[in-house]
Amino acid sequence: METNTNTSENKGIWASLHSQYRGHQFQKQIWAIGGGKGGVGKSLVSSSLAFDLAKHGFTTIAIDLDLGGANLHTVLGQTPPKKCVSDFLSGNVVDLVECIVDTQYPNLKMIGGAKDDLKITQITEEKKKMLINQIRGLPAQFIILDLGAGTSQYTLDFFNIAQVGIVTVLPEPTSIENAYRFLKAVYYHRLHSNSRFESIQPMIEAAMIPNNQLGIQSPSDLLNEVNFQNPELAGELKRSIKDFKPKLVLNQTRSQTDIDVGFSMKSVAKKYFGIDLDYLGYLEYEPNVWQSVRKMRPFLAEHPQSRIATHVDRICNYLLKHARIEQTLNE
Ligand SMILES: Nc1ncnc2c1ncn2[C@@H]1O[C@H](COP(=O)(O)OP(=O)(O)OP(=O)(O)O)[C@@H](O)[C@H]1O
Ligand SMILES: [Mg+2]
Repeated sequence: METNTNTSENKGIWASLHSQYRGHQFQKQIWAIGGGKGGVGKSLVSSSLAFDLAKHGFTTIAIDLDLGGANLHTVLGQTPPKKCVSDFLSGNVVDLVECIVDTQYPNLKMIGGAKDDLKITQITEEKKKMLINQIRGLPAQFIILDLGAGTSQYTLDFFNIAQVGIVTVLPEPTSIENAYRFLKAVYYHRLHSNSRFESIQPMIEAAMIPNNQLGIQSPSDLLNEVNFQNPELAGELKRSIKDFKPKLVLNQTRSQTDIDVGFSMKSVAKKYFGIDLDYLGYLEYEPNVWQSVRKMRPFLAEHPQSRIATHVDRICNYLLKHARIEQTLNE
């Protein structure tokens, strides 16, 4: 990762990323920001990434998918949008494009979540699929999904459709615990919705239940069990664990010890769950974050020189470079 966003080297990287976009060498990117817990900074991270991408000239749409507590519009300095995701889900709006609203920042648009809290359980599978298709078709280079807390199927689905899935965590035991739970749920959900693993669905379903009778506590345990019961699928399962590359952002760090939590989470995820967690970096605790929320101004607009702004820029840069490499490998 780069060390300073203001260096000429870094400017050169952004310029080169731009020319590649102009040359259509990048596919549209969906980035989802989740984390098992509420109030950990998902909306700060989503809005800041979206703001930074737009600032660098990439057309970006930030979507609020936190239907139980939609407030991304506030963090982006907008009044509640008239038409939003809940209108699409309830059938009031046929085309999601109708819900796009401009922000006062160039290249940055957004789609609001819900005017009133909407129960995720009311969303049918069919509607969810329609929403996913329409999100994929939105006219932007980047689509940033701000997810709600918890591990509902709805949230897991949106995390899994993204090319980049970021888990936001506070350096606190409860948040860390929820993040591991979220990661496991995301992974099992991926397997559960994959028809190639149909024959081991009972084992996957067992794994999704804490303290299940098979004693499966982690993806590694599941792999051992599959190896034992259905060895021909074990290789494929192993590959699916390898392909699962969630990202981690630590928020509200106050010390080096806090920052190091990211590194220990990375090794715990590998050792106990077999998951490669990519620690993207950290955002420090900055007392003026709440002030910008109160002023209804994106934090990066208020404080473009802050350490949070620098770190967000570094994270975007890193993700773009990796997207380019992965795409090149897949071509
Ligand atoms: N790095 C930070 N420094 C200081 N305060 C922060 C920081 N990140 C977030 N906050 C504060 O924490 C609160 C929660 O942040 P945010 O709304 O981004 O979290 P969230 O995960 O989206 O919450 P929810 O689950 O309710 O949607 C906000 O009031 C914000 O001001
Ligand atoms: Mg939020």
